[in-house]
Amino acid sequence: MEATQDFIIAPGGRLKGRIRVPGDKSICHRALLLGALAKGVTHIANFLESTDCLATLGCLQMLGVKIERTRSNCVTVDGVGIHGLQVPKHKLDCSNSGTSLRLLAGVLAGQPFESVLSGDASLRSRPMQRIIEPLTRMGAVIHSPSGYAPLAIHGRRPLTRLRYEIPIASAQVKSSLLLAGLQADGETWLMEPAETRDHTERMLQSFGCTVLRDGNWLGICGDTTLRATDITAPGDFSSAAFFMVAASGQPDAHIIIEGIGVNPSRKGMLNVLQAMGADIRLLHEHMLGNEPVADVEVRGGNLRGVDIGPEVVPFVIDELPALLIAASSAHGVTTLRGASELRVKESDRLQAMATGLRTLGVEVDLWDDGIRVTGREDFRGGVVDSFGDHRIAMAFAIAGLRIHSPLRIRDCRIVDTSFPGFADLARIVGLCIDVSELPNA
Ligand code: S3P
Repeated sequence: MEATQDFIIAPGGRLKGRIRVPGDKSICHRALLLGALAKGVTHIANFLESTDCLATLGCLQMLGVKIERTRSNCVTVDGVGIHGLQVPKHKLDCSNSGTSLRLLAGVLAGQPFESVLSGDASLRSRPMQRIIEPLTRMGAVIHSPSGYAPLAIHGRRPLTRLRYEIPIASAQVKSSLLLAGLQADGETWLMEPAETRDHTERMLQSFGCTVLRDGNWLGICGDTTLRATDITAPGDFSSAAFFMVAASGQPDAHIIIEGIGVNPSRKGMLNVLQAMGADIRLLHEHMLGNEPVADVEVRGGNLRGVDIGPEVVPFVIDELPALLIAASSAHGVTTLRGASELRVKESDRLQAMATGLRTLGVEVDLWDDGIRVTGREDFRGGVVDSFGDHRIAMAFAIAGLRIHSPLRIRDCRIVDTSFPGFADLARIVGLCIDVSELPNA
């Protein structure tokens, strides 16, 4: 069994430099899945070799798809077409990855065989009824222990087309249903309660599939053939976010993060940081395939508290732990409302952030759907827990720029699910971070 890892942060870090972060996690999952369902060979460049994306890759291999790593961060997917997946011999292990499990469920709902999707303890405690219900309406038979993984799926070909108002703002649910819709007997139409990241819609178009629109409804035709294409993943905005927040709140900091995906449905954090007074600019904006990309330049300064309302939440959903660190070092009070989805991420992120922030000496009020923090000049050190959640670990790592005594963050190997190499990159750009390997108890 692998040793556990803690991050140890020393006071005194200063951020400066020009960096790149690894490829976008959401886009890499989708490139693997659509590549597998397409006819022909798809090359994926700047592929994110994180444990989450490798989980999707491993599951697709178990379903009979040939996927090869050609060189560092490049993979080739030999698409089998929508009717070419094979019965897996074993349970499909999605590890810590909700995106793998929910999107694969949409694919497997349309496959006329039995398969079982599961994952680690965190993933097995996350709600799956949100996909079970609509996929069952489309004709899949799904058994699960009261709405949680493992999901035993007996798919149906073709699925029944669906017209469905999705009750939760979730790109994973939307994407799962679009992938099922590709295998239905007609048009499937979906409406979201609020707009969420649209990488699936954009990438479907890259694979030659028409995405339909009718007002707020989004549609897809069943039995569509996808054509293989080449995808280059932009740098992951959600990974870059930790450095953007870190630099924004440190006077004299100056960083440029190159080649970041700035899809409007992902970059909401820039508006929030700018409202807090941050100096952030996008340089060299251009398109990479169907996705907008830019270099992000951040000059540090002093931030002030803001109110983050429910309408903003879907656009900043993965950046909220980092934003709460910005809020904790800002002048004044920040409130976050309408964020109960944070309670069902890789950890209960509202609770995890409140617990860690209190250790750092930050005044926090926790609500069912949000949190209120009062910013302070600097943080106490001590020991905080990642709660087995990559984004909690990285959020507290950047809080380390404001500490006046050392900070230990427990259980940080999980950072590899989205951002392998985080600690090395953080050190290069100026954070005083060490990694301590500990034997398992
Ligand atoms: C993702 C969607 C979001 C996000 C997750 C990745 C995706 O989850 O938090 O990290 O790639 O579709 P929800 O759909 O649960 O909001």
